[in-house]
Parts: sequence; C-alpha cells; structure tokens
Amino acid sequence: GKLKVFVTARLPAVAVNILRERFDVSMWDSENDIPKDILLEKSRGKDGLLCLLTNKIDKKVLDEAGKQLRVVSTMSVGLDHIDLNECKARGIKVGYTPDILTSATAELGVGLLLATSRRIVEGTNAAKNGSWGTWKPMWLCGPSLEGSTVGFFGLGRIGLAILQRLKPFGVKCFKYNTLNEKTKEFETEHGVTYATFNDLLATSDFLISCSSLTSATKNIFNKEAFDMMKSTSIFINIARGGVVMQDDLCQALIDGKIRAAGLDVTTPEPLPTDHPLFQLPNCVITPHIGSATDETRTAMAVLAARNLLAGLENAPMPSPYEL
Ligand code: GLV
Ligand code: GLV
Repeated sequence: GKLKVFVTARLPAVAVNILRERFDVSMWDSENDIPKDILLEKSRGKDGLLCLLTNKIDKKVLDEAGKQLRVVSTMSVGLDHIDLNECKARGIKVGYTPDILTSATAELGVGLLLATSRRIVEGTNAAKNGSWGTWKPMWLCGPSLEGSTVGFFGLGRIGLAILQRLKPFGVKCFKYNTLNEKTKEFETEHGVTYATFNDLLATSDFLISCSSLTSATKNIFNKEAFDMMKSTSIFINIARGGVVMQDDLCQALIDGKIRAAGLDVTTPEPLPTDHPLFQLPNCVITPHIGSATDETRTAMAVLAARNLLAGLENAPMPSPYEL
C-alpha cells in the first residue's frame, strides 16, 4: 500500500497535492493548533510527518508514531520544537525550510527596528486617541539608525540579511556575537566585527537577537544582560521567545534599563492579552509573523512537502537538516 503521512495543519493545496499524488495523506484540517492527544493519535503508524514550529515533536510523539516513521519535515527554519537527538538515534531524517524565508524575516526585523526606534505604534495610537495636539518639536522622538552601533546575537542567514538591509541607513558599526566565530574574510566582506557577549551588550544601540534556540542560548537575555545594556538601547527579538527571560525584559523596560523592545516571538505564544508587556508603550509585539509574506509561506509549505516526498522516496531532500 501507499506510505502514510500526517500533516499537522491546514496547508495550501499546492503543497498538500504534492503529497497526495504519492501518499495516503491525512491532515489536521484546521487553523487551530492540534491538541497534543490528537497529534499523538494521528502520528500512530505514519511513515512521515509534516509539522509546524508549534508542534512539539518529542520522544512521546516519536514513540507513538512507531518504528516505520522515517521522516519529520517541518515548515520552519527553527528546529527547537523537534527532539533532534531522538530523531538521530532512530535514523529519522529531518527536513526544514531555511533560505526561502530569510528575506521575509529580515524585512520584519528591519520593520521592528524602525517601529520601535521611530515609535510608530505609539505614534499611531497617539494620532488616533486625540493626543496629537500639534506638531511639537520634541514629541515622539527616537534614536536614529544613522551613526549607530548595531549588534547581532546570532549571525546566520537571517542576521546577515538584516545587516545587508541596514547598510544603506548609515549604521556606523556592526558587531556580532555567535557561538561559532566567523572567519576574518567573512568579517571583512560584510563589514562586521566580533564582540564578546558582554561587549555586544555594552556597546550596541540596537541589539538584534536572531540565533536559534538551543541549550546554549536559552534565557541568555536575562537581568544581568539587560543591566549591561545601554539605557538608550533597543532590543529586537525575531528568534525564539526562549532566548529571553521575559520577566527580566519586562522589568528592564519598566525600569528604563533599556529604552524599547520589538518582539516577534514571546513565551508563550500567543502571549496572553493581559500580559504586562502589552501595557508598555515602549514594547512592540507582533504575533510571530517573521516569514509571513504571501510568497514565502507558500514556498515554505511546498518545500516542506518536497522534503517529505524526497525523504520517503529515498531521494536527496531539497533541504535536509544534517543531524
Ligand atoms: C519561524 O520562526 C521559523 O522557524 O520558520
Ligand atoms: C538561522 O537559521 C538563520 O537563518 O539565521
């Protein structure tokens, strides 16, 4: 019989059809998050899973799926929701969707940088709620990107794409900190210099978090980190909420340890509407929409389907994650 795959969310037909041609496909046909018990039940006996970043693919799911599970394909660049060690131990191939979402996510990163520095949301609200009295010389001012120092925590594809997009703004200095230091050639080519984590914190006017979430980066932006940052600095997170101790960030914003924050990712997601971060005028929160362009989301779904197809047919996946 045909191989069986389970798709954990409603995807564009163009992606699902790639799978339907070859496999026995079942799908959680809803925009709502699949409940864990249903994920476990639906994974049972499947040869392949196509999942989202909101589905925790842990040991339990892999156990439930059983021995014939050979491929886990995620419609995301992030892999922190998948137990990669377990996949490796079981010989399960993993596919993901880097590269095609780099521009979209970089655009959103730049958007959050400008939204926070130029206080766009605060200004929009002021205009709407009647506090726009007249043109006031010092009203709603914010720091300029021109002449600033921009720091990257994590400088992979997305960080680099942001750096390239920021160059025309006249940024004075780009710094980065990552676990794997880049070569001198890379640094010269891109006009960026390595900084220790502490130096990155202490000298950045804008600090952009774009690293993956791992045991090494979890909660790395904590009280000690925010205490070291400039009181005029702006923190942007387009990576994962888990790299930030969110209560510490909230307190840092309240205490003026940093000036503002732009967050596309939070803990949890969705962030409850009564969360204190939503009360802060100097915090702009978007609902994890980094890759959300029309073109990119469809391309991600199609690539995830192609990864699953290739993986199950023992062909090279277009975008494998090397375990
Ligand atoms: C988005 O966060 C992704 O990992 O693709
Ligand atoms: C991370 O995976 C990136 O693309 O920057």
